[in-house]
Amino acid sequence: MDIRCFPAKTEDIEVIYTLCKEHIEQYESDPVPMDPVLAWCRRKIETKIGEYEAVFVDGKKAGFVHLSQLPDGNLELYLFADFRGKGVGTALIRRAVSQAKVQRKQLLLYVFRANERALRLYQREGFVIKAKVGNSRYVMEHRCG
Ligand SMILES: CC(C)(COP(=O)(O)OP(=O)(O)OC[C@H]1O[C@@H](n2cnc3c(N)ncnc32)[C@H](O)[C@@H]1OP(=O)(O)O)[C@@H](O)C(=O)NCCC(=O)NCCS
Repeated sequence: MDIRCFPAKTEDIEVIYTLCKEHIEQYESDPVPMDPVLAWCRRKIETKIGEYEAVFVDGKKAGFVHLSQLPDGNLELYLFADFRGKGVGTALIRRAVSQAKVQRKQLLLYVFRANERALRLYQREGFVIKAKVGNSRYVMEHRCG
């Protein structure tokens, strides 16, 4: 499997936003005001699009990865449904861990507690739960140095 990442483009903003929105709608269980949350997500993607990368698997676009630059590395992963469960996420997590080590940064991520498979995957790759955010999410950090 050939996995490559290239800088995301402005025309990717809408697709990334859709993946993010679907994800929040699927897993958010806290009574948060959805419109402002989604507006915040859209603004973040628009202003940080330079930090997002498009992921290609064997030449086909498979999703997006975002490793935010400041202050800690904050990892976000969104793969299209057809590309899940094939080891792509694992490879991208390992790449982010290596990048964070090179940059001597902490690596953090937010995960919904109900996203049990993702939670298990992150634990398997060396992340530990650092804090709870409301009742629906955890902050996880990578603890393998
Ligand atoms: C979570 C995600 C990045 C994992 O990447 P992946 O390539 O599917 O994962 P891999 O194939 O490398 O590893 C397999 C593990 O990933 C997780 N996984 C696999 N398919 C998944 C799916 N459809 N949804 C969520 N997690 C999944 C499981 O933990 C699985 O391990 P298991 O076999 O023990 O259950 C990817 O499935 C995805 O983008 N899901 C939708 C968006 C999302 O949940 N993003 C994470 C935000 S914190």
